[in-house]
Amino acid sequence: MIKISDLNFTYNKNENRIILKNIDVEFKRNEISVITGLSGCGKSTLFRIISKEIISNDINLLTGNIFINGENLNNIEKKEVFTKLAIVRQDPDTQLIFPLVIDELAFGLENLNIKKDEILEKIDQISKELSIEHLLFQNPRFLSGGEKQIVVLASVLLLGANILLLDECMSQVDKKGRERIFQILKILKNEGKTIIMVEHNLKNLVIADKTFSLINGNLSYFKGYNNEEVS
Ligand SMILES: Nc1ncnc2c1ncn2[C@@H]1O[C@H](COP(=O)(O)OP(=O)(O)OP(=O)(O)O)[C@@H](O)[C@H]1O
Ligand SMILES: [Mg+2]
Repeated sequence: MIKISDLNFTYNKNENRIILKNIDVEFKRNEISVITGLSGCGKSTLFRIISKEIISNDINLLTGNIFINGENLNNIEKKEVFTKLAIVRQDPDTQLIFPLVIDELAFGLENLNIKKDEILEKIDQISKELSIEHLLFQNPRFLSGGEKQIVVLASVLLLGANILLLDECMSQVDKKGRERIFQILKILKNEGKTIIMVEHNLKNLVIADKTFSLINGNLSYFKGYNNEEVS
C-alpha cells in the first residue's frame, strides 16, 4: 500500500514550474491503479519520488509525505526502498546490464541468496508465462524494444516485491505480449500486490481497477472499475 499526502514537487525552486501539486492519494493492495496524463506532465517524476530516486536537495522543492505500507519514506533508507517495491522504468535499456537474458533474470535472485536450482526453476516458470524461453541465451542489447520490456518486467516480477511501479512497461510490446502481461498482473493483484502503472496507451486501461489522471500537477481520481463515476 502507498499513501501520499500533500505532496508538492518542483525541480527548480527558482523557476515557477510546479510538477506535482497537493497530491493526496492512496494506492491499495489488491488493486491495479493506472495513472495517465500527457507527455511531460510528471508521471515518471512521481515514480522517481516514490522510489527515492529523487530526494530533497538545494535546487528542488519537495514537500509532503509518502508512506509505504504505513512507514514514512523519510525513515526508509534509499537502499532499503527496493526491498519494499520494484520499479520497471520507462526506458528498458537503463535496466539491462548483462550480456545474456538469463543472467539478467538471475541477478536479482542471486542477490536474495536463493539457491541455484530454485533460481533456474523460477526463471523457467516466468519465461514460459511470458513466452521468452527462446530469448534466454540472447544478448538483451540486440532484442527488440518490446522484447527488452518483457525481459525487464520478468526480472522485476521475479523479485516478488509487494508493490510494483510500472512506467509504461508495455509501450513497445505487441498485443499477444500485452495479454500475457495482463494475465500475470491480474494474478499478482489477487495475491495482494499493490500495482501502480503509468500508461499512455488508453487500450491498456482495461486492466485498471482505478484510473487517475495527472493534469497540471493535480492527480485526480478519474474512474473506478466498470466506469462508475467516482466523487
Ligand atoms: N532532472 C530534471 N530536471 C528538470 N526538469 C526535469 C527533470 N526531469 C524531468 N524534468 C521535466 O519535468 C517534467 C515531467 O517529466 P516526466 O518525465 O515526469 O514526465 P512524464 O509524464 O513521465 O512524461 P512522458 O509521458 O513523456 O514519459 C517534464 O517537463 C520534464 O522535462
Ligand atoms: Mg514518463
